[in-house]
Amino acid sequence: MPTAAHNTAIDVPRGLKGVIVTETALGDVRGTEGFYHYRGFSAVELAEKRTFEDVWQLMFFGTLPDASQRAAFAAQTAAPRHLPPAVRDALPAIARATALSGPLTGLRTALSLVGAAAGFRPLYDIEPERRRADALAACAAVPTLLTALHRLGQGLEPVEPRDDLPYAANYLYMLTGRDPDPAKARAIEHYLISTVDHGFNASTFTARVIASTGADLAACLVGAIGALSGPLHGGAPSRALDTLDAIGTPDRIDAWLRERILAGDRIMGFGHPVYRTEDPRSRMLKGIARSFGGDLVDFAVQVEARAEAVLAELKPGRELHTNVEFFAGVVMELCGLPREMFTPTFAAARAVGWSANILEQAADSKIIRPSARYTGPPPVRPVPAA
Ligand SMILES: CC(C)(COP(=O)(O)OP(=O)(O)OC[C@H]1O[C@@H](n2cnc3c(N)ncnc32)[C@H](O)[C@@H]1OP(=O)(O)O)[C@@H](O)C(=O)NCCC(=O)NCCS
Repeated sequence: MPTAAHNTAIDVPRGLKGVIVTETALGDVRGTEGFYHYRGFSAVELAEKRTFEDVWQLMFFGTLPDASQRAAFAAQTAAPRHLPPAVRDALPAIARATALSGPLTGLRTALSLVGAAAGFRPLYDIEPERRRADALAACAAVPTLLTALHRLGQGLEPVEPRDDLPYAANYLYMLTGRDPDPAKARAIEHYLISTVDHGFNASTFTARVIASTGADLAACLVGAIGALSGPLHGGAPSRALDTLDAIGTPDRIDAWLRERILAGDRIMGFGHPVYRTEDPRSRMLKGIARSFGGDLVDFAVQVEARAEAVLAELKPGRELHTNVEFFAGVVMELCGLPREMFTPTFAAARAVGWSANILEQAADSKIIRPSARYTGPPPVRPVPAA
């Protein structure tokens, strides 16, 4: 008689909430304190004081770089911004095929091709150095892929990456074809740094599950993008902005919010699975939005204040505050990013965090393989004759 696997298994809460499944030296989120960090450094402080490339190195190599390491890293990541010809040639077809679903779906497909064209081998079969080189190449290619797919979707020619520009400025440059405004490039860089990593969220977990099988780095990233694309995870920055549009004018804020909340809808950009305080990313992005100023920012600040008050009244005790998405949408809009690029931009930053997690997981030889409780008809059932 076969033994049921669950005889030796342990039950965990639904959704694995609160279950520690591995150890990480990469970072952590402290939900009740409204704080998160990368390798012990406050992520918000890193965003304020460092570049995206510095944080990328911190995540990959464990330390913040000095001047010579910075220069070496810039050189190392400039070359893989340029796509292999086979991938570049495939992008128009990918953009056409993903016209209805957008650049994130296109990225999922194109990144898979990058891995294949660059000869990524299973993590299991290669040394840590090679794994890291593959991760650098994949992360460097993401902005080129995204901006090319977006532009092709608009009927525009892709813009070749520039090796002399830092990551964030080059991203805006490839998107628009124009020299980016330094304040806007820096604002986007703040956002990118603040979204590199955020605990053991669903896409990070997905990336690590795939890495634990020893699959290649592109396979892990493609899986993570798939997890991120789900509406419960993928973020709502464009939806938060749609909410501001739907409310329209300050006199409609309260009535609009009440109607929606009483109808059981969720207000996009509010609430968080971990934070019970204001999301620290929201606070930082609000400051950036304010530094730009303007009607949209004033309106967003008003909506935030009223939504927090109305949510506190109609959903008492739930501690619903703005999450990263609310002001991220505003900042990206102010920097000229099209809405369809909001979640893909999040994915570009998170690719670095996913990769750091993949590299960490690849160093552990244990495959992640939980169990499920069987709830179907009792075994063993006799198989009826055909
Ligand atoms: C992010 C989110 C999924 C977190 O979910 P969660 O922590 O599991 O929250 P819960 O589902 O436990 O919600 C607790 C209560 O607050 C309510 N609530 C949570 N977020 C809400 C929101 N944005 N608007 C209105 N009510 C909300 C829930 O309806 C629930 O009410 P109930 O106790 O009457 O059932 C949720 O807050 C949400 O859907 N927010 C809007 C979408 C969004 O901004 N996503 C981006 C996330 S970074």
